[in-house]
Amino acid sequence: MRFLVVGGGAREHAIGVALVRANAEVVVASANTNPGLEAIASASLRTDPTDAPRVVEFARALRVDAAVIGPETPLAAGVADALRAAEVPTVGPSKDAARIESSKVFCRELLARHQILASPRVLAPSSVDEVDRAVAEIGSPFVVKPDGLTAGKGVWVQGADFSEAKEGATYAKSLLLQGGRVLLEEKLEGEEFSQMAFVTDDGVYPMPAVQDFKRALEGNRGGNTGGMGSYSQRDHLLPFLSATDRDAAIEVVRRTVDALREDGMRYRGVLYGGFMLTARGPVLVEFNARFGDPEGINALTLYEDGDFAALLLGVATGHVDPNLVRFRLRSTVVKYLVPPGYGDRPKPGGLLEIDAPAIEAEGVHVLFGSVEAAGPGTVRLGNSRGVALVGEASAIHEAGSRVEAALAHVRGDYYVRHDIGTKEDLARRVEHLRQLRAPGAKPSPLPLSVAPPAAPPSSAGTPEQLIG
Ligand code: AMP
Ligand code: GLY
Repeated sequence: MRFLVVGGGAREHAIGVALVRANAEVVVASANTNPGLEAIASASLRTDPTDAPRVVEFARALRVDAAVIGPETPLAAGVADALRAAEVPTVGPSKDAARIESSKVFCRELLARHQILASPRVLAPSSVDEVDRAVAEIGSPFVVKPDGLTAGKGVWVQGADFSEAKEGATYAKSLLLQGGRVLLEEKLEGEEFSQMAFVTDDGVYPMPAVQDFKRALEGNRGGNTGGMGSYSQRDHLLPFLSATDRDAAIEVVRRTVDALREDGMRYRGVLYGGFMLTARGPVLVEFNARFGDPEGINALTLYEDGDFAALLLGVATGHVDPNLVRFRLRSTVVKYLVPPGYGDRPKPGGLLEIDAPAIEAEGVHVLFGSVEAAGPGTVRLGNSRGVALVGEASAIHEAGSRVEAALAHVRGDYYVRHDIGTKEDLARRVEHLRQLRAPGAKPSPLPLSVAPPAAPPSSAGTPEQLIG
């Protein structure tokens, strides 16, 4: 079987590796030349991955059996629709359904319309004049979100990205003035986790829960990034996440797939719910229409040595054998090596000497992202997340220690978060939730269900839309 992988990051490298392990042939369409994918692909095309006609032409010329789309931008650009129109079964939703990620307003409206009570309180001011009132109504702390795709970097959280409410209001106004839509959300307090699932015409097949580290710097400081690393736990839960809470999140994913279907959108691909586990249970922060990066790497590492090619082909054609969806009972830790300054002002161009065979010999996997080959055992860092190291073990902290030990085989100027997957960090997160859930803890000042109806409009002006 021949698969087209669209995208050239470490997530796509992991997808390629899993396919090759299943004896499939891989061809790649990506903007960058990923040394890891180059090593395993039988053909590759350098293209903007959102260029649907070029991607389709390549898929047809190579007579691929199926395609899998890694990043969100081709999905939002309708590349899955174009591939399907050319009769290439594709893992990835249509442009319409991918709005679940590419439009945060669409996502919140869908949930509200279908009474999926998983959103924080949220307002969508439709003009600059409405912002101050919306800010007052949501109350502090709050979060400002541009409607569209921002690679995890456009969201401003009070207390982290701005301190005074008026700074957040100014940011929201600037987004509206640039012509975009904007959401103001209650800031949720808790621990984030990612719950991905394969979605077919007749089923939702959950993957292990994962926790991503979004902030650039240790101690969760610095700017929001696409994710600096992630971990998953042996039992597919997380140290702070019970089976009941995970099931509640999976139920939100299932109901959202039903809602899309009821609204006429078929979904074949991966749906990823980003949740905040709060004192009141999991609340949806966002949906993504694809494997997380890095979270997809955790899940793919755990994929039982079954037939990943058959699984992906099944997702692409709308039906999978449930026996193909099996994940090993091991803990995993992924850490990204990034250029210094990543998350703010990355300094690209640095060389990394990586003794990949020595790392692999210690049971740690090396996946390449935004790097280019620069000689034997050497890569040059680009602007984004460069190399992912993946460790696995029985316990999370052991998997983390394996990755740390593997760093002895890497030389060069890079940044990595050493605090991902340490015992101390895990204990802090468990304690954080214990405190939030302790009897007598101050409850969130705002209800977490669908917000009450908007106050009746005052005599002048239209009230902002209140969308649950
Ligand atoms: P998003 O693009 O919606 O995932 O937002 C990026 C990051 O901002 C999330 O992963 C969270 O860390 C944070 N964030 C987004 N919305 C909220 C919220 N309502 N409360 C607290 N943090 C949030
Ligand atoms: N790691 C977050 C994402 O893939 O969007």
